[in-house]
Amino acid sequence: MKCRRCKDKGKTEKAIIFLPHHNLSLCKDCFLAWYEKRLDETIKKMDMITKKDKIMVAVSGGKDSLALWYALTRLGYEADGLYINLGIDERNYSSTSGEKAEILSKRLNRPLYVIEVKKQFGKGIPDLNKLTKQPACSICGLIKRYFINKVALENGYTCVATGHNLDDEVATLFSITLSWDIDSLIRQLPILPEKEGFVRKVKPLIGFTEKENLLYCLLQRIDYIREECPLSTGVKTIFYKNLLNRVEQKSPGTKLRFYFNFQKKLHPLLPGQIIPPLHSCSICGQPTTSYDICAFCRFKQRVKHSLQT
Ligand code: AMP
Ligand code: FES
Ligand code: ZN
Repeated sequence: MKCRRCKDKGKTEKAIIFLPHHNLSLCKDCFLAWYEKRLDETIKKMDMITKKDKIMVAVSGGKDSLALWYALTRLGYEADGLYINLGIDERNYSSTSGEKAEILSKRLNRPLYVIEVKKQFGKGIPDLNKLTKQPACSICGLIKRYFINKVALENGYTCVATGHNLDDEVATLFSITLSWDIDSLIRQLPILPEKEGFVRKVKPLIGFTEKENLLYCLLQRIDYIREECPLSTGVKTIFYKNLLNRVEQKSPGTKLRFYFNFQKKLHPLLPGQIIPPLHSCSICGQPTTSYDICAFCRFKQRVKHSLQT
């Protein structure tokens, strides 16, 4: 198989990948150029960020968010990193993920902010799960949302970028469509605009599959954590991803159509998001829809209470 882009330029180069959903075969150099150009086009077309933004990339140590940080920097965006160490010791998951984020931070010569859940709570996610009986993923989501917003605002960032990819977004969309959860459908956007006390959040990788981000990391020699989070095994999203991969194999382009046609055709027909009035948390000052204490501080109190009893 020959690279299509090289062929168009009258050259002959062996392709290293065929992307059936774009009907495109590319060599190494053309893949890297295609990836970065497509990322920049997505950002500009959707008005996600500009070169004037001070961007914080939430990096997990995985391939998607590290590829995003690297590519944004190469494209000339000003982007720093934030890693939240969740305190997952099984197979050294958290320490290894953190190391990967540190390595890229040094390579890019950009700062990496680190938040340690164990320092905040005295325990990591698995122990917090045992202590409070709350599902690990919901604790993890609460803590990540809280610190991503707090660290970005406190340090003057105008925008947070996450590494959610096409596979993530399609699996989420599929799952909420199955139950016609309209409120969640309304929130399924690649950009969550800034509002009182909440920084703008963008997902620039929505047009890329996991495999494309993986290949970008391999070709750019970005070291990332290979293992999935040990607490996420058996999660429904993984089942949906496998199912959707089978559909994609039979009918290439399904994922892109499902996601982008939703954004273009269905989302505009949905009612606007009803944003409940926001208040400042009486403990930490972060915005919350509760009248008094935010969900994070309530969780912190619950942990303290459980430790005392
Ligand atoms: P996930 O929910 O694990 O699929 O992650 C989605 C996105 O959230 C990643 O691409 C990152 O941008 C961000 N993220 C996940 N885990 C962390 C973490 N430990 N620290 C900072 N950002 C994270
Ligand atoms: Fe959140 Fe595993 S990444 S529980
Ligand atoms: Zn609070």
